[in-house]
Amino acid sequence: SSIRTLIRGGLVITASDELHADVLIEDGRVAALAAHGTAAADTWTADRTIDASGKYVIPGGVDAHTHMELPFGGTAASDTFETGTRAAAWGGTTTIVDFAVQTPGHALREGLDTWYEKADGKCAVDYAFHMILSDVNERTLKEMDHLVGEGVTSFKLFMAYPGVFYSDDGQILRAMQRASGNGGLIMMHAENGIAIDVLVEQALARGETDPRHHGEVRKVLLEAEATHRAIQLARVAGAPLYVVHVSAEEAVAELAAARDKGLPVFGETCPQYLFLSTDNLEEPDFQGAKYVCSTPLRPREHQAALWRGLRTNDLQVVSTDHCPFCFRGQKELGRGDFSKIPNGLPGVENRMDLLHQAVLDGHISRRRWIEIACATPARMFGLYPQKGTIAPGSDADIVLYDPHAEQVISAETHHMNVDYSAYEGKRITGRVDTVLSRGELVIDRREFTGRAGHGAFIPRSTCQYL
Ligand code: URP
Ligand code: ZN
Ligand code: ZN
Ligand code: ZN
Repeated sequence: SSIRTLIRGGLVITASDELHADVLIEDGRVAALAAHGTAAADTWTADRTIDASGKYVIPGGVDAHTHMELPFGGTAASDTFETGTRAAAWGGTTTIVDFAVQTPGHALREGLDTWYEKADGKCAVDYAFHMILSDVNERTLKEMDHLVGEGVTSFKLFMAYPGVFYSDDGQILRAMQRASGNGGLIMMHAENGIAIDVLVEQALARGETDPRHHGEVRKVLLEAEATHRAIQLARVAGAPLYVVHVSAEEAVAELAAARDKGLPVFGETCPQYLFLSTDNLEEPDFQGAKYVCSTPLRPREHQAALWRGLRTNDLQVVSTDHCPFCFRGQKELGRGDFSKIPNGLPGVENRMDLLHQAVLDGHISRRRWIEIACATPARMFGLYPQKGTIAPGSDADIVLYDPHAEQVISAETHHMNVDYSAYEGKRITGRVDTVLSRGELVIDRREFTGRAGHGAFIPRSTCQYL
């Protein structure tokens, strides 16, 4: 839209600065910033002025790991691109990077086109895609180059889930070699799935069928071992590596050791590993199924290492791995056999708030909040500075955040299409007030004013964080 919008009187926070400033928006982009109350700002005229006094003015969140409508375990993630991106907007996230999936025996092209179709015309906020490689062969390797060229510049591989997404070490090495040539970024699900499947079979044979056993068989050692192996394979290939959903202290240690050597190795963790634990998996009456995801929730002691990693930059990104399944009818598929519980947690709506609470709890600074939730994911996945910051030329994806509002997270009030909240009853100080996506109001003072189809596919350049 070509209307000029002025956001006045807020505290603008980016990964690098905090400044009481006015922000001028034109043609969906940030046109200028000027210190509030200065002559420059006072001469600006606008068609629409938004009063941000008492609020933070922050870049829209970039959630680099979501799974809308993901087919998994005979069912599919319950948020569509329409419901999931609307919930993202409510939670102050204005860009998602979702995962298109290759079906084994089929081309990347087919999988990617299927995901383009799912999202087209449905999204409330902007979106991009990574590609999951489930079948690394000569054709797949050639197709990777084409995908990088059309803005799908990152590829997830699985050391877990034999028979579904799994790649062996030879396939992983070949994909990494290809990525080192074409600028793609390899994202790794680092768990030794071959060993885990042995332990699953043995646990079930002993009659250990409850959700808690999902956490027990997916051992910390098998996350650490896979993380170590992925790092060595990436070194051999001369490729950078991004490890997704890191949950164990021992896996953070592997990343830290690699980074101490100066290697281009990066790590992501998720709110569920920072705020939840095996205590949740142990909830009675099958309620633990709500918390079944992979990597699994860990004993509470691991949280300190994750927070420390986020402070020391051994972990760089917090994404949600949003992959919602309803308790009724979906999580329940695994009653009597934890291995049949669809893996994943809802959370796309909660990330910005939970991390703001982490600021108040003293885990991270305000600027680090914006860095791990907006700026670095944008840089890592080739979206910066279009996304992830507030600077002249950037898309006007902007959140007015009320740092004093009190809220209680609940499935009764959330907007995700899922019948429970992983954070039910959690008190948060801070709440999204208003959200703009490319200059258009998507949330206006706690009212949804967006529309399905406003959100656009964003082709990405290659990783900018090396
Ligand atoms: O349990 C999870 N994380 N489900 C989503 C798929 C994945 O491995 O990221
Ligand atoms: Zn086919
Ligand atoms: Zn994964
Ligand atoms: Zn995932």
